[in-house]
Parts: sequence; structure tokens; C-alpha cells
Amino acid sequence: MLTLGIESSAHTLGVGIVDDGKVLANIKAMYKIGTKGMIPRQVAEHHVQNVHRVISQAFEAAQVKPSELEGIGYTKGPGIGSCLQVGQVAAKTIAQRLGLPIAPVNHGIGHIEIARVNAGMSNPLVLYVSGGNSQILKLTDDPHPHYKVMGETFDIGIGNMLDTFARGAGLDPAWGSTVEKTATGGRYIDMPYTVKGMDFSFTGILTHALKASKSTGLQDVCFSLQETAFSMLCEATERALLLSNSDELCICGGVAQNSRLKQMLEAIASEHGAKMGFTENQYNADNGAMIAFVAERSLKAGAASPLEKCNIEQRYRLDSARVY
Ligand code: FE2
Repeated sequence: MLTLGIESSAHTLGVGIVDDGKVLANIKAMYKIGTKGMIPRQVAEHHVQNVHRVISQAFEAAQVKPSELEGIGYTKGPGIGSCLQVGQVAAKTIAQRLGLPIAPVNHGIGHIEIARVNAGMSNPLVLYVSGGNSQILKLTDDPHPHYKVMGETFDIGIGNMLDTFARGAGLDPAWGSTVEKTATGGRYIDMPYTVKGMDFSFTGILTHALKASKSTGLQDVCFSLQETAFSMLCEATERALLLSNSDELCICGGVAQNSRLKQMLEAIASEHGAKMGFTENQYNADNGAMIAFVAERSLKAGAASPLEKCNIEQRYRLDSARVY
């Protein structure tokens, strides 16, 4: 079922085209975050300026014509309202013009489902780590198929924490990968550690690391920040893995691109005889293909939404979205 998906929840405008689960195109345009972070009006303007070009490039890359499309999806949320609206309006316009069934998609379900299927897993324990989210989840059928949150951050997502630290410490503000690179060869210094059951918190460590960056070398601060924050995620994930009796562990989301985090989780999975799974980085970063991927599965299951009900929801909880 040839399906186009549009992702526009934050800095990335992504357009993907899939056919029966196979990704034919995954094109994106990214708003460059300066020292001030994301300014919603400017990010939305970036998406408006690029949406036509990125859609055209996706058709070119997939080598299909708009008239061949059989379905469409867009990110309903969570995300920045003005940014989500760009994808919503574009998708609704295409759906109406071409008479296509349309499916609103939860952004997090997009990351999880494409990672889970690409990793060849049926019902793994999932660690979803991105800018706005940090959650430990497990698929359940009660009362309908959805991801149940077993643990999550009390405050900010780990990606947001790493990006905010990078900006505050005067590092290149582009993403947590800067922290990962700077951490190489660093030595450990003490950092606050907050895990309560299977939940965790990142604001305390952020404040501490920013203060430490004024008096201690950035290499050591970045190293210690990563080691401590990732250990918090690993402790909670290990507890959830044992409690849920899972034999598969899948990691996804923007921070899943971090090789040190992957290495630490691999050690936990291996210690408990669980299979470790992840997907290519192009799907861990925000992208349109994952939205097309989930939209296609929803539409095949008969879950098309009437156009007038195709809304956006800035705080769309992952555990309130049905999985098809
Ligand atoms: Fe994301």
C-alpha cells in the first residue's frame, strides 16, 4: 500500500514513502538550531518554506507519482503546535485532493514501531530516548494494543538535557553528539544520580554539570554526565527487563544514536540472556518514513480517520495511542 508520511513535530521536516513496509524514500530538511534553541515561529516558517520541495524530492527518490499513492499519514503529536500544523495541513490537502485515506500518527509510536520491526522483534521491552521523551515501555493488549509506560522521566527528556548542557557549556549547540565526542578519553567526576523505581530525573544532573563546566575541563564533565545519566537509564531499564520477564530489549529515538548508551544496554541484555535490537540511525533521528510506516499499518487495519477529525495534539501521550 503506497503510503506517504509527513513528520514536522520539531526541528525536522521529514517526508517518507513506504510500500508494504519497505521504505522507498526518506527525505528531510532540518532547521538549524542556533544558540537560542528552537524558536517555534521560526521553525514552523522553515517547514512552510521547505514542505513542497521535500515532498517533491520524496516522490523523485521513490520514483513514484502522486497519483499512485494509496494512503497518507502525518504526525499528530506530541510536538510544537505551529510545526505540527504544517504537516497536518499539507497531509490533509493531499488527502482531499487525491481522495486518499489518512491516518494521524503518534511520533513516538513511529520511532518504536519501525525500530521494533527492523530489529525483527515481536514484543520487546522498549527504551525510547529522545529530546522530548525518555520512557521505558512494553506493548500490552489490555484493553486494546498500546504501549504501557513502565518508567519515565519526571522532568525533561535526556536529549533535551544533553542539548541544553551543550548550549550552556558553550559547545556546538548541535545535538548530544557533541557531548559524546567531547567525552572521549575523559575521567570520572561525581554527578548526582536520581532513580526512583523505574523513573528517573535529569534536571539535577543538568544543573550540576553546567556548574561543573565553569571550573572543570569539559572532557571530564561530558564523560561523567554521559556515564551517570546513561547509568540511570540502564538501572531502570534492567529493573523493567526483569520485572516484565522480557527476552528482547529494543532501543530507539534520537539518543539511541549514542554508541556508549548502546554499548551499556548491550551489556545488560547479554547478562540477562535478552536479545538487543535497534534500527538504523536515519530512523532514530526524526524522519517521515516512520510516520508513513505506522500510517500504512493503521490504514491496512481500517483505522483511517475522517478529514474533519484529523487534528493535532501537542501533548499526545504515547500510551494513549492505539498500535496496529
Ligand atoms: Fe523523535
